[in-house]
Parts: sequence; structure tokens; C-alpha cells
Amino acid sequence: MKPDNKKQPSLLFTPIKVNGVTLKNRIGVSPMVTWQAAANGIPNDFHLAHYGSFALGGAGLVMVECTAVEPRGRMASADTGIWNDAQVDAWRRITMLIKSQGSVPGIQLGHAGRKASTTKIVKRSLSDHESGWPTIAPSAIPFGGAIDRVPIEATLEDIDALQQAFVSAAVRSVRAGFEIIELHYGHGTLSNTFLSPISNHRVDRYGGSLANRMRFGLETVRRVRKVIPKSMPLFVRLSVTDYADNGWSVDDSVEFAKQLRAADVDVVDCSSGGVVDGINYTPYNTPDVQHRASARIRSEAGIATTAVGKIVDPLKAEALLRDNSATLVFIGRALLNNPHWPYTAADLLATEHTFKYPDSYDWCIGWKGFYKWRQSLQKDQNNN
Ligand SMILES: Cc1cc2nc3c(=O)[nH]c(=O)nc-3n(C[C@H](O)[C@H](O)[C@H](O)COP(=O)(O)O)c2cc1C
Repeated sequence: MKPDNKKQPSLLFTPIKVNGVTLKNRIGVSPMVTWQAAANGIPNDFHLAHYGSFALGGAGLVMVECTAVEPRGRMASADTGIWNDAQVDAWRRITMLIKSQGSVPGIQLGHAGRKASTTKIVKRSLSDHESGWPTIAPSAIPFGGAIDRVPIEATLEDIDALQQAFVSAAVRSVRAGFEIIELHYGHGTLSNTFLSPISNHRVDRYGGSLANRMRFGLETVRRVRKVIPKSMPLFVRLSVTDYADNGWSVDDSVEFAKQLRAADVDVVDCSSGGVVDGINYTPYNTPDVQHRASARIRSEAGIATTAVGKIVDPLKAEALLRDNSATLVFIGRALLNNPHWPYTAADLLATEHTFKYPDSYDWCIGWKGFYKWRQSLQKDQNNN
């Protein structure tokens, strides 16, 4: 395929500035836990190769997996962490590799709350005999199903300490070389359980009304914003709906996004679910729910958003940007399947000016070399 500079420039491959950081394209690696760390939470060679592959593959933003702000906040003991300096040093190796390839490293900071202390992949609570640990949440209500450990109800002192754990993790993330921080407020993690009336039955100023349920998350955002550079993009991942009549709704997400914007959050990352056990998402057509919520939050709260969920076709990614459903697209499983997904997308959408392969590949598969390479493949095929 000959590069066609006359075609309409692709939005997916148009660089974008988010706060003080420029992304070379609008493709972000969606945060995905890998369960590859030892119990010390230190990322290792697996993480270096894994995240390095996405940077070599051309994603503009490589958001690393949900990383625990304190040991108690790990989902499984194989989760990565950023609660000490040894972890900072190990992450720095990874951020340096990502940056050396022209991508921007981001980190998702999370606390699993009542979903902590579980086995990996197929989730069930670890018992005390299996080295499980006490969990903490806004209310002493277990998640349900096989995640049946009853969390302790956080006191006001606990709440202050939990927020401080996010603050310390944010400071460490900056020291580790991350250029974007995302706070995980989705998927039934601690902050998500403060938001949802299903998991938050508190009667103090952190529970009850919508304003009270938003307090934990907003205070955390404000405290984090104070300790990171003004120009550093701050993202928040939301579960835009609990998919339950009496739960958190897309309307609530729009209201929360307005408040997040006022607290200097730059991007709302629109995921869904995770507070209620046993929901069958299929009838809800989940990606559409998320993409539509992204569009609403973007227009009604006036804040940048990500669309995420089952984006595999580059044309779909481009369409979501073109119809103003999102500012960025986050891609998960399609990138696990093919970390070079951006190359395929560029082949379809980009022009010579809007996509560059890594130097080492550019001479043979970049626009000029690529054209020759394709021609020679075609010739071989014709000769056979
Ligand atoms: C293996 C795996 C691990 C995941 N881990 C996380 C995580 O750490 N944090 C998070 O917010 N979402 C996590 N997710 C959800 C993804 O970020 C993404 O939102 C979801 O997979 C939908 O996008 P996709 O259809 O492009 O895969 C994970 C998904 C997968 C498949």
C-alpha cells in the first residue's frame, strides 16, 4: 500500500496535548493487571518486556496496570505496587524504556478495597490460612459470591490514611518517571465503593447523599493534585454505571465528572461495572454503554474522555474520535493480542507525516521501505 498523503488526516494519528504532555497519537494502552510480580510488588523483567512491547508497537500512551498504593490494597499478592522506593527504582527502568520509544508512560494507582486479598485470574477470597489479609472498605459489606471476605469499615482516621497512601504513591510515581497518573475509581475498587450507594452505607459525611459519596474521591483528587506537577495530566477511571436500578448511574457520572473537572482532573476514563456481583452485562451491550457515556461526559461535563471496550477495528477507533465520543481511545485485549496494533491501524489510516515506526524498523517497513517491501511481496506472489 502506497502512503497516501492526500487522504484526510486521521484523528487517531494526530498528536494531542493533554495538559502539559503531548501524545504522538491518541491510542492508549488500557490498564491491565498481569499478576506477574512477587509478593513484594516489584515489577520485573516480565513487566519491562510487556510494557516495552507496547511502546515499540507505537501506542502514544502506555498506561501500566492497576498498581497498589499500599500492600493491603492489592487484589492478589502478585499485583505490582508503588508503596516503597525499591518499587520506584524498578518502575523507573520501565518508564525509561517507554520514553526512549517516544511513548508516554502512565500509571494507574488503585486500592482494591473489599476486592483485595483474592486469588488471581479466577477470583475468590484468600482465607487467612492461605496468607489472605484483612481488607477495608467504606462499609463492612462483602462484595459477594466467592469474594466473601468481610472488610472492616474505615474510620475517619483510616480514610485520611488511605487518601495519604494515594498521595504518597503519586509522589513516588513522579519520581519513577511516569508522566501521567490515573486514579482507579472503577471496577468495585475502594474509591468506587465510596461512590456507589450499594456498597456505601455510611451515615457520616462520606455516605448517604451523592455529595457525601463523592467526597472520598474528590478529596483524594485534590490532595494528589497538590503534590504532582501542575502540567501533569491526571486521569480518573470511572465505572460509569453499576448496571443496577438502585446503584451508581451515568447521570451520577456526569455530575461527578463536572466536579472532577473543577478539581483539575484532565481526563475521565469511561469503564463500567464491578460493584455488584453476578451482573450479566450482555444485555447491556457494555462497550456501547461505555462509549455513549464517554460522549455524554465529554459534552455535558466539558472534560476530555477515553472510550474503551472492544475496540479492535481501527476504523471504529477513528469513528469514536470523529463523532466526538471521546478524546482518546484506550485499547486492552486487541493490544495483548497484537502489541503492534498501531502499525496495522497506521497502515489503514495514517499518512507519512502522522506515523513513524521506531528508527530501527523505519528503513525497512516505514513508509518508504514499507512500500518497496510490499511491492516485493506482491512480486513474489505473482511469480508463484
Ligand atoms: C487481563 C486484563 C486485565 C485488566 N486489568 C485492569 C486493571 O488493572 N485496571 C483497570 O482499570 N482495568 C483493567 N482491565 C480492563 C481493561 O482496562 C479494559 O477496560 C477492558 O479490557 C475493555 O477493553 P478491551 O475490550 O479493549 O479489552 C483489565 C482487562 C483485562 C483483559
